[in-house]
Amino acid sequence: MNSINLDNKNLAGVVTPEQIAAYDKAATEAIYQLDNATGEGSDFLGWVSLPGEITDAQIDDINTTAKNLADNCEVVVAVGIGGSFLGAKAVIDALSDTFAPTQKVVFAGQNIGEDYLHQLLNFLKNKTYGIIVISKSGTTTEPAIAFRLLREKLEAKLGKAEASKRIVAVTDASKGALRKMADTEGWKTYIIPDNVGGRFSVLTPVGLLPISVAGFDIKALVEGARAMQIATMKPGAENLAQTYAMTRNALYNAGKKIEILVNYNPRLHYMAEWWKQLYGESEGKDGKGIFPAAVDFSTDLHSMGQWIQDGERTIFETVLSVENPDHTVVIPTDADNLDGLNYIAGKRVDEVNKMAELGTRLAHIDGGVPNMRITIPSITERHLGELIYFFERACGISGYILGVNPFNQPGVEDYKRNMFALLEKPGYEQQTADIKKRL
Ligand code: PA5
Repeated sequence: MNSINLDNKNLAGVVTPEQIAAYDKAATEAIYQLDNATGEGSDFLGWVSLPGEITDAQIDDINTTAKNLADNCEVVVAVGIGGSFLGAKAVIDALSDTFAPTQKVVFAGQNIGEDYLHQLLNFLKNKTYGIIVISKSGTTTEPAIAFRLLREKLEAKLGKAEASKRIVAVTDASKGALRKMADTEGWKTYIIPDNVGGRFSVLTPVGLLPISVAGFDIKALVEGARAMQIATMKPGAENLAQTYAMTRNALYNAGKKIEILVNYNPRLHYMAEWWKQLYGESEGKDGKGIFPAAVDFSTDLHSMGQWIQDGERTIFETVLSVENPDHTVVIPTDADNLDGLNYIAGKRVDEVNKMAELGTRLAHIDGGVPNMRITIPSITERHLGELIYFFERACGISGYILGVNPFNQPGVEDYKRNMFALLEKPGYEQQTADIKKRL
């Protein structure tokens, strides 16, 4: 079966194959650390073997819960932020019909936008809805606010007992406010394993439950991840995750501090958002780390294209290229040809898209932008599963080569501390006094 592929031959002369190969020893060591839990953050390596450990019984159980929610609710709101949001959003968006008139799964808790929440509550007003509330810590402010609002309205509409049948909590086995609430109220729960961090959790119920509610095949997603787990297990030239990790580090150390993940298929927009979190939170620490950025081409060629072609030469790009779109649209011939497009009449739109990609790649290489290319045969559950595990595995390897702990996120706490101090949260009295002096 075709799988995803990686081409790292077009690096604009910035690094040579020998310079990349120089990272071989570090990459081999990183793979050993990941597989034997000898590196930093070794308490958070549950994701490494996760795809191979998910049982059919677990998948069936998630599918049953999802069907129950989907059958009994017009809409299900998945409430979560960061790693408790992006994976599900990425997969659901990639697999969904962009113009489908109704969406089974909508999201909340990924922002604190008052207008967003107002519009969501308004959208749900005359609908039967369910809630999947997802928080590993069980204490994150953004989803907690959204959940409180959604739950209050649901209970007011259906009564506590009926509402409870439509609430599922995905959280820690024993810690956090959400666990306490779920146990008290008797909601159905799923556990996020202790050893799987938020941004690596899409293949746990965090991602699998909303994806299943949206009607997609989570078994195929997990099988794809499992195939990639096997394919990237051993160190060596065939290991795509290792090659990607080594190439990124070689480019970084050659002055390319920004990686732009490029897609030519708008269905992958949120895959790039998920990828940004995975790499940004894993590598951006200790004053180090490639800045992960993302663009949608050709849309952003008309906005960011100038900078990428011609701006400061600190970037490289990694293109996500889908070989086969699901649908065929052919450009028609026009008798008058006033728009001058008859030269491409009879071609599929994707042929034009592929030429845009090729032309852009050549132009960017000429402009000194190293180009890596990841090809995906098509956007299916299986290939998305492969892609997810590929990026996770490569992230672990890359972070260890870089010399950071890829599995913590100490920097995320700083804004929370300030926000709590400003909101005068009990327990933050001293911080409140200190921060007020700065205002
Ligand atoms: O990767 C991470 O750990 C974070 O992005 C978390 O997923 C995010 O902060 C949400 O945390 P929680 O699931 O505890 O609500």
